[in-house]
Amino acid sequence: MRWVRVRAPEYNHGVPGALKNAVDVLGSEWVGKPIGFVGYGSAGGVRAVEQWRQIVGNLSMVDVRAQLEISLFTEFSEEGFTPNERRVEEITTLLGQVVEMGKKLA
Ligand SMILES: Cc1cc2nc3c(=O)[nH]c(=O)nc-3n(C[C@H](O)[C@H](O)[C@H](O)COP(=O)(O)O)c2cc1C
Repeated sequence: MRWVRVRAPEYNHGVPGALKNAVDVLGSEWVGKPIGFVGYGSAGGVRAVEQWRQIVGNLSMVDVRAQLEISLFTEFSEEGFTPNERRVEEITTLLGQVVEMGKKLA
């Protein structure tokens, strides 16, 4: 299985225009693939992720339910990234759902 990891900030409560343009150009390569989202930001990136769910639907990508919502306020500091303990379980669930969805779609 080949994984594609895209790093996307949330800009003004939405997806960044440059990345949307890249997906518009390259997205046909991902038609029918599973996708999971890890958001981070002041509100866990949830607004941008919700918009991405709509966008990838048009590419016939299948988004999984699990999602990480990482807080810019409590999990990032000058020392770096200190994830909440529950992130381990969350990312395990998320990746598991992506793998299972990939098997169903294969
Ligand atoms: C113009 C602009 C608008 C932003 N708007 C939001 C926002 O609405 N919500 C949010 O959580 N972060 C917002 N951010 C923060 C970015 O999502 C991101 O966390 C920040 O640019 C640092 O990203 P990086 O450490 O990945 O480079 C904004 C940043 C910029 C430059």
